[in-house]
Amino acid sequence: MLRIGILGAARIARQFCDGVRGSDKVTVAAVASREAGKAEAFARDLGVARAVASYEALLDDADIDAVYNPLPNSLHAAWSIRAAEAGKHVLCEKPLGPGAEEVRAMFAAAARAGVKLAEAYPYLAQPHVRTLRDLIAGGAIGAVRQLYASFGFMLDRPRDIRWDASLGGGALLDVGCYTVSLARVVLDERPTRVAAAPDWAESGVDRSMVATLEHKSGAAAQVAASFAMAHQRFALIVGEEGVIETNFWNHTSAEFPASVRLRKSHAPNAPFALVPADAVNGFRAEAESFADYVAGGAWSGATQQQSLDIAETLDAILASARSGAGVLLA
Ligand SMILES: NC(=O)c1ccc[n+]([C@@H]2O[C@H](COP(=O)([O-])OP(=O)(O)OC[C@H]3O[C@@H](n4cnc5c(N)ncnc54)[C@H](OP(=O)(O)O)[C@@H]3O)[C@@H](O)[C@H]2O)c1
Repeated sequence: MLRIGILGAARIARQFCDGVRGSDKVTVAAVASREAGKAEAFARDLGVARAVASYEALLDDADIDAVYNPLPNSLHAAWSIRAAEAGKHVLCEKPLGPGAEEVRAMFAAAARAGVKLAEAYPYLAQPHVRTLRDLIAGGAIGAVRQLYASFGFMLDRPRDIRWDASLGGGALLDVGCYTVSLARVVLDERPTRVAAAPDWAESGVDRSMVATLEHKSGAAAQVAASFAMAHQRFALIVGEEGVIETNFWNHTSAEFPASVRLRKSHAPNAPFALVPADAVNGFRAEAESFADYVAGGAWSGATQQQSLDIAETLDAILASARSGAGVLLA
């Protein structure tokens, strides 16, 4: 049983606790908050055994094996590095760092400490993404030439951390990272050039972002992220022999299952077939895969190289958005 401690009584951590409850591989053993009362309320609501009154105290706790880090993006690197230095494995919320430099420092710290560090993308642990990857690897749509992925919603909480530039806010880092990670995983290569079209919010973060990613193979991806549109989570993957559509839920559950639809044909009127995939709780699948990883098994999520490539791509998209010019990646 992997004993996880949570750094911060974040909203997403509530869903994480709900998801892993009842697992025989993972347990949430403690939650830490900057405010004792907040940690206590969280522990009471979610059935977590211990509430801890500071992040430091959680890292000093010998009965915690691993930390789940759902802090604002700007704090991912500092607290994940401190957790690694305290000998804890780290499952850190996406995006791993606000930039590639931080991500490199995080992996270096984990390597020095001999602990595992992984980027939390529940969707990569979900059966529909395994199905999608198996279909593509098995040649169901031939070589992938283009991918379009969009992830947006209406962010109507004015004080949300996502609007705060100093906390690593912005649509690209918050939800664009899903579309960039999907392109990295499906195309199995990092982009060589990106060009971005931003829509900036008054707070200085990107309210919406659209970017084109070019790749050495000739494959291209168009990725979109937004805080200012109707709920939208969708990907279209087009190969030489067929097309896959998926509604690309970032964390599935029985109420919000994901779907994968396949059309394997050049005919314009060929129907799409629904490819079945189990609807499991994405947080549970992710946390159990992380426990396997800590125990020496496989990890279902982004590899270290993929996480680094995703971070460098996000940096390049933001650089392109600021300069108005395309940006080359080495
Ligand atoms: N995987 C997913 O599907 C998914 C979904 C949503 C969010 N996320 C990620 O999860 C992370 C948290 O998102 P969220 O929406 O859950 O955020 P949130 O509710 O605002 O929680 C962030 C927590 O960070 C702590 N914190 C420490 N310093 C802070 C500061 N200066 N300002 C604000 N909070 C501070 C707070 O905990 P205490 O006050 O208790 O210390 C707060 O509860 C982000 O990295 C986000 O990208 C992932």
